[in-house]
Amino acid sequence: MHRFSVTHHKMIGSTNDEARRLAAEGAPHGTVVHADEQSSGRGRLAHTWFSPPGNLYISIVLRTGQPPSRTAELSFVTALAVADTVDTLLPHQTRARLKWPNDVLVDGAKIAGILLEQVDEATIIGIGLNVLQAPANIAYKATTIVACGGIASVDGARDILLDHLGCHLEVWSRDGFGPVRDQWLERSYPIGATIRANSGGESVAGAFAGMDADGALLLDTPSGRRRIVAGDVTLGA
Ligand code: BTN
Repeated sequence: MHRFSVTHHKMIGSTNDEARRLAAEGAPHGTVVHADEQSSGRGRLAHTWFSPPGNLYISIVLRTGQPPSRTAELSFVTALAVADTVDTLLPHQTRARLKWPNDVLVDGAKIAGILLEQVDEATIIGIGLNVLQAPANIAYKATTIVACGGIASVDGARDILLDHLGCHLEVWSRDGFGPVRDQWLERSYPIGATIRANSGGESVAGAFAGMDADGALLLDTPSGRRRIVAGDVTLGA
């Protein structure tokens, strides 16, 4: 059973920075930092994260007791919990999709981002969910729960998210990565879809061939199958 203990801030630099600080001081599993607004929200790949009031910004300290080799799997566990949350908040016919490694999309537009960091043996899971506000003038399409016809308060979204996260963590700890991987694939692009992976300064197009047992993206290219362990993906060649 995963219990979460939430500390709320009106404004903070970055909830991930605060969670890192608490983890370094020994904060227990389930410590959650929630802020209404961030002045220096951080995204993956050194991007900034648009963080005005009206969206959800939380960071969770996890001490799973699992070997460090399994830490990267938590990014997919979290993506499933966020996708379930989005489905819960949106009208019935709408379903969140996942883009490797952990973007959550609705109708091709990003609605949430996940940032995993490690402090000693603690993992910090940072989640930004666009409830009311989406960034403009960015390189990708973004949307919000409200723009997709959903109804949510930020605190309500947080509580639903923590419930889903607890459930997915339970399955992951008990049954391993297999069921997580299966559910992730079921919400991802179809096998064979043309995608482009940008990794380590290189850009490779190919056919999506699934996810490896350790979470690496599998890409079939004219020169053979590639395993992508870090980077970003766009749909289409
Ligand atoms: C991404 O680039 O897609 C990841 C974005 C992660 C943003 C969240 S908001 C809460 C937490 N605090 C941060 O500074 N970043 C994460």
